[in-house]
Amino acid sequence: MKLAIRALLLALFAGFLIWTIGPSVVPSPSSVPAATAVPAGADPTPAAGEALFWGKGRCFTCHSVGDRGGERRCPNLGAQGGLSAIGARAASRAADVTAKQGRALSATAYLVESLLDPSAYVVDGFKPEMPAVMKAPLKLSADEVRAIVVYLQSLGGSVDLGAMEVPSPASGCDAAQVSADDWNPYLAGDVARGERLFFDPAGPGCSACHKVGERGGTIGPELTHVGGVSSGALLVESILEPSARIASGYEVTEIRTQDGATLLGRVIAEDDASLTVASGGDARQTVAKAAIVARTPRAESLMPAGFASRLTVADLSDLLTYLSAQR
Ligand code: HEC
Ligand code: HEC
Repeated sequence: MKLAIRALLLALFAGFLIWTIGPSVVPSPSSVPAATAVPAGADPTPAAGEALFWGKGRCFTCHSVGDRGGERRCPNLGAQGGLSAIGARAASRAADVTAKQGRALSATAYLVESLLDPSAYVVDGFKPEMPAVMKAPLKLSADEVRAIVVYLQSLGGSVDLGAMEVPSPASGCDAAQVSADDWNPYLAGDVARGERLFFDPAGPGCSACHKVGERGGTIGPELTHVGGVSSGALLVESILEPSARIASGYEVTEIRTQDGATLLGRVIAEDDASLTVASGGDARQTVAKAAIVARTPRAESLMPAGFASRLTVADLSDLLTYLSAQR
């Protein structure tokens, strides 16, 4: 069993390599997105994009828009603090792309790029965690992307269909689909058994730290919609190699105070005078900044690293199948 997991891990990293390098593979017909909520060819409306943003597109699982939505770990796309809403912000972002990368980009092209190739320009202070929306698992169609862009433009800016170019998925932009499909055999496990394992206190203990729906703990990110935004490969990595990439907002910090105490956890609130650390369960501790002698970011995740040797291949497959069904 352990050996098989090793092989899985190897395949995983090979998969990631392919993903990053992006081979010029001709995509299979199966990689063409399925039927869409937006009638093909029709002029997209902000309302259609809004429905996709708060529904099928799963954007709400990471982004809020102003006061709407509950997510705080990714850029708020409404007006916030000194920042204008995304429809207006796009122009200054495009200017920043030109300044930093020397590429001329219109505001509309910036929006399209932030959906199709999110890591081409990563907003300061955030990590490249956004999935490319035309690739698995989101697989939005070109018409859906247009509708979402029009909705984003309508947030503080003006709708401008004219300059928008969205490549059709059939034109070969879906290379990642090929490596994502390699995980399909492991996504054909038993959902019900995966759910039992996830919530079994005598099992791997996932629900002690993660919530799915109404049940579970809050030490790790909520996984209610994780299948809608994470590919099989990313899920495997999250479970077997938790420290390989740590979800934003869940970085661990070690804090030493004047009285010699050491605190390990994530900083959940901070102002000029103090910070609050959550270190597991409901434990919260607020420390005065004046009392802190050292503050060191840690490279390890709070999620335990030993699942590769604790889970059987069948366990992993059932857990993956269960998680990828959470959309
Ligand atoms: C898994 C989390 C996640 C999901 C799902 C997600 N995003 Fe993002 N998004 C991010 C992160 C993180 C960033 C900032 C890093 C970057 O620039 O790539 C970002 C950046 C953006 C930006 C640029 C914001 C700016 O201030 O310039 C836009 C626009 C955007 N996302 C739109 C969307 C839309 C529309 C969807 C749904 C189709 C979506 N995102 C889904 C995580 C996500
Ligand atoms: C002791 C607490 C703990 C346990 C037990 C735990 N996790 Fe995690 N998990 C975390 C934390 C904290 C993170 C965020 C940091 C990171 O990305 O590594 C995380 C991240 C994840 C992610 C990535 C989520 C995202 O939004 O990027 C997945 C998927 C995940 N865990 C699944 C599981 C599964 C499945 C189990 C059971 C086999 C499990 N976890 C057990 C704490 C835990």
